[in-house]
Amino acid sequence: MTILVTGGAGFIGTNFVLDWLKAGDEPVVNLDKLTYAGNLRNLQSIANDTRHSFVQGDIAEPDTVPSVLSEHCPRAIVHFAAETHVDRSIHGPQNFIQTNVVGTFRLLEAALHYWRSLEDAQKNDFRVLNVSTDEVFGSLSPDDAPATEENRYAPNSPYSASKAAADHLVRSYFHTYGLPVITTLCSNNYGPYQFPEKLIPLMTVNGSRGQALPIYGDGKNIRDWLYVADHCTALRSVLDRGRPGEVYNIAGNCEMTNVDVVTQICSQLDDLSSGNAVEPRRDLIEFVSDRPGHDRRYALATAKIERELGWQPQETFATGIRKTVKWYLDNQAWLDEVTSGQYRQWLDLNYAKRA
Ligand code: NAD
Ligand code: TYD
Repeated sequence: MTILVTGGAGFIGTNFVLDWLKAGDEPVVNLDKLTYAGNLRNLQSIANDTRHSFVQGDIAEPDTVPSVLSEHCPRAIVHFAAETHVDRSIHGPQNFIQTNVVGTFRLLEAALHYWRSLEDAQKNDFRVLNVSTDEVFGSLSPDDAPATEENRYAPNSPYSASKAAADHLVRSYFHTYGLPVITTLCSNNYGPYQFPEKLIPLMTVNGSRGQALPIYGDGKNIRDWLYVADHCTALRSVLDRGRPGEVYNIAGNCEMTNVDVVTQICSQLDDLSSGNAVEPRRDLIEFVSDRPGHDRRYALATAKIERELGWQPQETFATGIRKTVKWYLDNQAWLDEVTSGQYRQWLDLNYAKRA
């Protein structure tokens, strides 16, 4: 048996594939377009592992997923492939619609066709796991209870709107055609291999290099942080025992303001790499102009996955952030590679005009 992962050269996909091969023997086929966010260097440690097959391809191309399915005959698809950065979606939503909406639609069409061709036993066991985000619920007020799986979708950015559209399509393939899909909604992840455009790796890299730490607005926006390995464990449980047609929230019960997150990164950097740059690193914090439509607060209730699947996060923010900062400090070659070339153009586009 084998599983198909899409987007397995990105941040969470890489962690999932590496974890998967550690946890068992089942092979994994990894389909990834290798956009700026996908990186084969992430998968170097399994380059000679015959259980891992890499296919470079675009899920939005109509022939790509069908040909991977017919060649590898997986028992499940774990769908990570997406455009994922809110700020990039503000500067240019086109790719988000193309990959997240059209790409997910093509994947569902291919999965449906493939699933219908399976024998009854395989048909019963087949799963499509759609990996999505808490951002589909939009912004919560300070007094709102954390969102449950029943909350109304109210996406506010082109990114979250494209993920919401994909989730609705996924849902419709269950209700209309009976395709055994499950959607997971996860809070903000952090950990190794995250592209340094997102808050935690950006601040870690800038802080380690003695560069400014640009916090949007007043820095009091709240996110619920989850260490990526905990997300991977949750996804494995959902794949194993989740019920088709259901939605499961996954989160760390760890709501923090951006200022608090950045301050903790600064303390870890001061502790782990003292003497190399400006200290204390928190002096590098600069408040810059806000992100348009910036959601104030995300928070998710996780009672359903705890109750049904017995999943709980293992890492606290204190332990997870220390591992993460250490990983970035220990992986300079990876960082130098991903922060060269086009990355600089992105920094110019997103940060140069912020007051
Ligand atoms: P990422 O941006 O690090 O990686 C995305 C991967 O998808 C890259 O390897 C990229 O090359 C690949 N990809 C993009 N377009 C593709 C296409 N058309 N065809 C094939 N591959 C393509 O993203 P991530 O942070 O690892 O997120 C993975 C998934 O998890 C996404 O669906 C995202 O919405 C979801 N998610 C992320 C977070 C988070 O905090 N990072 C939280 C909740 C949910
Ligand atoms: P991000 O990592 O982009 O994730 P998301 O917007 O999907 O939650 O941002 C996390 C929070 O950090 C969000 O409130 C925006 C804020 N932020 C900054 O203040 N400065 C930055 O340079 C970045 C990238 C994000």
